[in-house]
Amino acid sequence: MKLNWITSLTFLCFILFTGCTNTTSENAEMDKFINDLLDRMTLEEKIGQTVLYTSGYDVITGPTVDPDYKEYLKKGMVGGIFNAVGADYTRSLQKIAVEETRLGIPLIFGYDVIHGQRTIFPIPLGESCSWDLEAMERSAKIAASEATAEGVNWIYAPMVDISRDPRWGRVAEGAGEDVYLGSLIAAARVKGFQGNSLSDNNTVVACVKHYAAYGATMAGRDYNTVDMSLNELWNTYLPPFKASLDAGCGTIMTSFNDLNGIPATGNKYLLKDILREKWNFNGFVVTDYTSINEMIPHGYARDEKHSAEIAMNAGVDMDMQGGVYMNHLKTLIEEGKVSEKDVTDAARAVLKIKYKLGLFEDPYKYCDAKREKTDILTAENKEAARDMARKSMVLLKNDKQTLPLKEDKRIALIGPLAKDQYEILGCWSAMGDRDTVPVSVYEGLVDALGDNRISYAKGCDIQSDDTSGFDEAVRVASNADFVVMVMGEFHNMSGENNSRTNLSLPGVQLDLLKAIKKTGKPVALVLMNGRPLTINWEKENMDAILEAWFPGTMGGAAIADVLTGKYNPSGKLTMTFPQNVGQIPLFYNHKNTGRPFDPNDPQFAYGSKYWDVSNEPLYPFGYGLSYTTFTYSDLTLSSKEMTKDNPLKINIKLVNGGKYDGEEIVQLYIRDLVGSVTRPVKELKGFKKVFLKAGDSENIEFILTVDDLRFYDADLNYIYEPGDFHLFVGGNSDTKIKADFTLNESGRSEKPKPIKIK
Ligand code: NOJ
Repeated sequence: MKLNWITSLTFLCFILFTGCTNTTSENAEMDKFINDLLDRMTLEEKIGQTVLYTSGYDVITGPTVDPDYKEYLKKGMVGGIFNAVGADYTRSLQKIAVEETRLGIPLIFGYDVIHGQRTIFPIPLGESCSWDLEAMERSAKIAASEATAEGVNWIYAPMVDISRDPRWGRVAEGAGEDVYLGSLIAAARVKGFQGNSLSDNNTVVACVKHYAAYGATMAGRDYNTVDMSLNELWNTYLPPFKASLDAGCGTIMTSFNDLNGIPATGNKYLLKDILREKWNFNGFVVTDYTSINEMIPHGYARDEKHSAEIAMNAGVDMDMQGGVYMNHLKTLIEEGKVSEKDVTDAARAVLKIKYKLGLFEDPYKYCDAKREKTDILTAENKEAARDMARKSMVLLKNDKQTLPLKEDKRIALIGPLAKDQYEILGCWSAMGDRDTVPVSVYEGLVDALGDNRISYAKGCDIQSDDTSGFDEAVRVASNADFVVMVMGEFHNMSGENNSRTNLSLPGVQLDLLKAIKKTGKPVALVLMNGRPLTINWEKENMDAILEAWFPGTMGGAAIADVLTGKYNPSGKLTMTFPQNVGQIPLFYNHKNTGRPFDPNDPQFAYGSKYWDVSNEPLYPFGYGLSYTTFTYSDLTLSSKEMTKDNPLKINIKLVNGGKYDGEEIVQLYIRDLVGSVTRPVKELKGFKKVFLKAGDSENIEFILTVDDLRFYDADLNYIYEPGDFHLFVGGNSDTKIKADFTLNESGRSEKPKPIKIK
């Protein structure tokens, strides 16, 4: 047979003769295997490893599907395929690579598994509101397991872009606005996807994205420009990427935006200086969809050939769907504009990941038609999705204990999303079946309460001017004791290129709410949406509001669990809800300005403020209620002074004074009062999710070390500085429970070394 058999045999010999006992020898074996392979590869074959094509089987997020991609594949010119799903389908493509190309190098199969493959979990923004790292790791693990059962071994997640502008639809895909929490979640997701070993048949290689600063896209419009200081980049936008890579993430995706005038896909500072040199990243860099070619409209490359030259010289290893590496790298090398060594290194980085996935050992290990039948949508996976969905929900309002639902009350279930099974999965739902599998809120409630207590009316569409269903909805509400309204957005109002400038409930939904309110019945509003909304009227007028996000396959059952009190809500917001769009970007950890507005000082007319709205959010970061009541008291610090060798011990008493057992997310914030660069008014530095039985109390302890006080200074040294700090503990970022301490020494980090501002 062909050389691919020799390749596989060589691989097996290495394993057999060397025993593969530790990482160093494993790496040595891998390096030897890959160097040997590279020695046998032609330049065209090396270039082939840098080429990625979509099969067009699913979601196309860009302008082109190349009809000839299979032809290129046969010629050994393709290293990976994305959007190809299914054991048989991926096997058929793999077969071409393994049996019809000269060296039989296997393909890697990528896919956007953002919150589940078949069993769909809540959108990532929703999951982040659980602040439950273990649960998020488990959700990623299940997603990986289901994806690998369908041929996928490379997942385009986690998306770790810090997101502070809810107009931007992609906030749905990330973990919200906070750097500390976002970094922990990023690492948890990577661990979940990649497990203990990439070579297991139920783990994938993760791809952290979108590098970098994509979340700061101007005006919340997708693909838009980003212009920010390096200080902000390092302190806010880079840490979740570093956390993902520290957790072992094998690949990274460039972003569409330009950053300070240089597109991320051609940005040497991001890809070489930071990623390779400072962070020692040794996986591979893939572009986002045609983002190499997009350097032309960005005004950074003259033509496709030039764009390929820029990207390769900047450090991009793989070209997603652009075709420019395939078409131009060879000529660029001949012309001396790109070095063959760089192309070889790019191919090497890709081959190493394939090796780690075990593809040289068994190229078909992820194409297992049996697992495809047994390992997806299992009862266990669905139960995990239901649990994750419950944990993700945030109770925004609950006047006079409106919720949970009381027994023997007749319930009117109203709204365009009450019986929905389609939108409930949210954006990026991979292979999630939107038509038959998801549990609607109606089904969930009927299952929990029986259908004789529930009457239903749709009332209106998600978005239209049609009010013809209002009368029926009002009639149904009038005949009930309690109304549950289920409203929100279309799933594709968030996600890629789904930005909005108006963040209220679309269509006539608010008008319907007003009509129902007039019936005088108590009303609980359940929201399904992919971003913070401006729900001022709703906040004033609803009796209860439950933010359910897009909760996924088991969403309706999970909502029923919360509404009926089977589960006591515990989620806390990870993005600020603004009062209106004009306040955006609005986030808790902003700077103070030189003229902070003090509403208690009416003389200060020139404090930073608006004419028409206060500076306050509608709901702050970290906010969320429970059916029980938590109170905090007795904040104590072990000392008023902190040093490197004397970390601070912080204690606070938490009491569950209500009638329900429940969980509280206890949050610790600091404020660094004076810095060599200005510091935010608050920064999350720790949290604990604590379960307390009704009536119980617990002493909660945090330890704060000098490392928690580090930040990047004006020269991008990672330092802590002596000075005074406020410390806050409580149930949301607006907590006023405060103590002070002083840090008496300074520290610089030797490693990583400073980077010059260019
Ligand atoms: C474009 C999106 O920006 C990215 O997140 C996604 O992974 C790729 N398309 C592939 O579908």
